[in-house]
Amino acid sequence: MSNAMITLEILRYNPERDEKPAFGRFEIPYDANWSLLDALSYIKDEVDSSLAYRWSCRMAVCGSCGMVVNGTPKLGCETFLRDFYPGTVKIEPLANFPIERDLIVDSEDFMQKLESVKPYIIDAMADTGKPKEIRHTHRQTPAQLMKYKQFSQCINCMLCYSACPQFGLNPLFTGPAVLALGHRYNLDSRDDGADQRTEVIQDKNGVWSCTFIGYCSEVCPKSVDPAAAIQQQKASGAQDWAFSFLMPRGSDQ
Ligand code: SF4
Ligand code: FES
Repeated sequence: MSNAMITLEILRYNPERDEKPAFGRFEIPYDANWSLLDALSYIKDEVDSSLAYRWSCRMAVCGSCGMVVNGTPKLGCETFLRDFYPGTVKIEPLANFPIERDLIVDSEDFMQKLESVKPYIIDAMADTGKPKEIRHTHRQTPAQLMKYKQFSQCINCMLCYSACPQFGLNPLFTGPAVLALGHRYNLDSRDDGADQRTEVIQDKNGVWSCTFIGYCSEVCPKSVDPAAAIQQQKASGAQDWAFSFLMPRGSDQ
């Protein structure tokens, strides 16, 4: 490590003690190989042990370390000091969520929204007593897998929620990652649950709340492209709506 130094400005907030969030300034040794998470660990170990932030895998898999870095939502473990040196790095908690402490935000609302979309395979014939072999096979062709694979790569990092101006305006908006996850299961050949997800997905606070700015897809570290998932669901919702006029219920009886 050289004698070079780099400055980090980190938003600090302890709701039990502070009236409002304020930036703390830290000058630390610069190492081109350090991720922001390494830099935060250095501060916690050597400078201020009260600094609070989330992390786990350190390899862009767990989705814990989302933060806003110089105005852009990013994963701390795959963003490096060298991308900013010799400039200052400004680190804030994810936008559009209540701050629990320093860089940690309250994700309870996101978790509830995840549950609301039934993010699991629903087998409509599971309770019929019919053997598995004549219900669904769990085998899929590569083509069937490719239909939903991209939307299954989400790590629940919530960067897309931090980037979404619509979620900032309307906290009831189900939001990009959850809608993409619902779409992922609807596209799965093993799943029969699309009807059970419609109420959430096609709601005014579901896909119809999205104004297609697309920043969610830009910041997504896993190229999930939640904006595309939402537009595809809008298209299928509109198709179902039009179809319901052509084929009203009971018209086949
Ligand atoms: S869609 Fe992308 S940005 Fe949003 S939570 Fe999933 S991985 Fe993160
Ligand atoms: S620590 Fe797991 S995604 Fe960054």
